[in-house]
Amino acid sequence: MTQLDILSKLPPAIQWHDDSLTLLDQTRLPLETVFEVQETPEQVWQSILQLKVRGAPAIGVAAAYGLCVAVQPFIGASIADFLDGLNDQAAYLNSSRPTAVNLGWALRRMQSVASQSDFNDSRDLYARLVEEAKAIHAEDIELCEGMARHGAPLIKPGMGVLTHCNAGSLATTGLGTATAPMYLAHANGVSFKVYADETRPLLQGARLTAWELAQGGIDVTLITDNMAAHMMATGQIDLVITGTDRVAANGDVANKIGTMGVAILADYFNIPFYVACPSSTIDFETPDGSGIPIEEREADEVSCFGSARVATQDTQVRNPAFDVTPNKLVAGLITEKGIINAPYDVNLKKMFV
Ligand code: MRU
Repeated sequence: MTQLDILSKLPPAIQWHDDSLTLLDQTRLPLETVFEVQETPEQVWQSILQLKVRGAPAIGVAAAYGLCVAVQPFIGASIADFLDGLNDQAAYLNSSRPTAVNLGWALRRMQSVASQSDFNDSRDLYARLVEEAKAIHAEDIELCEGMARHGAPLIKPGMGVLTHCNAGSLATTGLGTATAPMYLAHANGVSFKVYADETRPLLQGARLTAWELAQGGIDVTLITDNMAAHMMATGQIDLVITGTDRVAANGDVANKIGTMGVAILADYFNIPFYVACPSSTIDFETPDGSGIPIEEREADEVSCFGSARVATQDTQVRNPAFDVTPNKLVAGLITEKGIINAPYDVNLKKMFV
């Protein structure tokens, strides 16, 4: 696919070479491109918590490789000790952030491969785990390509497309989720504009989406979150595409805080609101959005703007990092197998179970 040209213009979020995991520190983008080798499970845990690596699919891939880093001290131990170490480290990495289901999904997949293997030597088991992490990585790239194929036809010439947070290449190891249809439509010669919400408090839209889409040659304009209604009311938005951290079995969608507000606005202005959702982000164990754990983050992220304090230290703050958009506001879920429409409880299962 021509999109590979786009990927070559962006720094990779995650790299695995010679048993070593390197993450792009996304907190430094777009001003600095800094890569950090991950030496310990504690470092991987912190990298996920601090959003050095972020975005649901990327968190899953990073956790799978992170688990390989975490079990390296157990190579050479008995299989039983290796498995104990593996399960402890998986539980530890899984505690880094609660909302993106890809984290637990990738770790459980690694644990299940380990428990089903019948190796006598922990070196062989380690090699099998690395192979599985590489498979999760390769599949993530393919999932993005599938969402690109199915989502690109939604983008018509002359459209204004709004997105929120960063569901881009940086949030995955491929073309992104919400951005995948944009990259493919652009590669196909469709002319359209993207509006990127800045996405307070951590500005993933401003720092990451506006930057990565511009690198990919897409016509992108940054707006603050409170401008979305005006842009819609004045006819500049024809389509919304966001990503998601977890879709419940009934199609309720958890995504970056502010997404639900965008969906409500889109509904009011009759603008279709689509969510790009790889199958790795569907949580069939959680019946509806009320069961999705919402991460609450540090107060300073709200009371400061970047490194500048804007509210006093003793100001009371709430900082939920995600919200849940009710399924009835979702025009469709763009998956790697096609676009799924309501009723989501039935159609998600039909497609993926
Ligand atoms: O807190 P973040 O930056 O990890 O939040 C990311 C998002 O909300 C993305 O929209 C979501 O993970 C989808 S990524 C393809």
